[in-house]
Amino acid sequence: MRKPIIAGNWKMYKTASEASAFIEEVKTALPDTGKVDAVICAPAVFLQNLSASVEQTGLKIGAQTMHEEKEGAFTGETSPVQLKDLGVEYVIIGHSERRQYFNETDESANRKVQSAFEHGLAPILCVGESLEQRESGETGQVVEAQIEKGMANLSADQAASLVIAYEPIWAIGTGKTATAEDANEVCGIIRNKVASLFSGETAQAVRIQYGGSVKPANIEELLGMEHIDGALVGGASLEAESFLKLLEAGANA
Ligand code: 13P
Repeated sequence: MRKPIIAGNWKMYKTASEASAFIEEVKTALPDTGKVDAVICAPAVFLQNLSASVEQTGLKIGAQTMHEEKEGAFTGETSPVQLKDLGVEYVIIGHSERRQYFNETDESANRKVQSAFEHGLAPILCVGESLEQRESGETGQVVEAQIEKGMANLSADQAASLVIAYEPIWAIGTGKTATAEDANEVCGIIRNKVASLFSGETAQAVRIQYGGSVKPANIEELLGMEHIDGALVGGASLEAESFLKLLEAGANA
């Protein structure tokens, strides 16, 4: 049985005091974190405070991106060593917004995934097709290529512990969720691709999240699907009450 993983991606939202208030509320009301991995991926400026404030709770903190090098002259960037030192455990890699606005590619995502593993962080690798690609029937091909490039050079153990987030770009922040069946179909394509690149055993171990307008109202149906092991959530992770409902659904999945 794969353990569900619900991760909030706050993107560039919240002030420091709002972030702290959210964490204080959520950490005391967590469901059984033996049954669900609960992660908040916060803006880099909050990571130190938030990591310190979740110590001894089941809530984990993640970053939204990182640089692949451990240090260097890269103005404005954050390294995996710096994240690890703060107690950050997860890092989102290759989110479609990073690809769209910050020129990230499958190749840079792959370098970052490898670096995250090397430095003891758990990467969440994002893949997903655009509306145009979906409408022209290219979804399967697109995500397979993203998986093949994004998972290049990983060991079988690393591949098995990777979290993959399938986020169709047209469903992000639009209120248009993929149907549970459509999301499951693509997550199944991803799992088959992992099987062909590594092994059936690795594919059974890898956790695949769906992301794109996930809310308390639709999460149960999504998590009920065979290949969907969790959710990467933007908007509905910003309010403690709604994030807690998502975690509850994860713990009961
Ligand atoms: P929304 O849940 O706001 O659609 O965002 C999804 C997302 O991009 C999570 O990484």
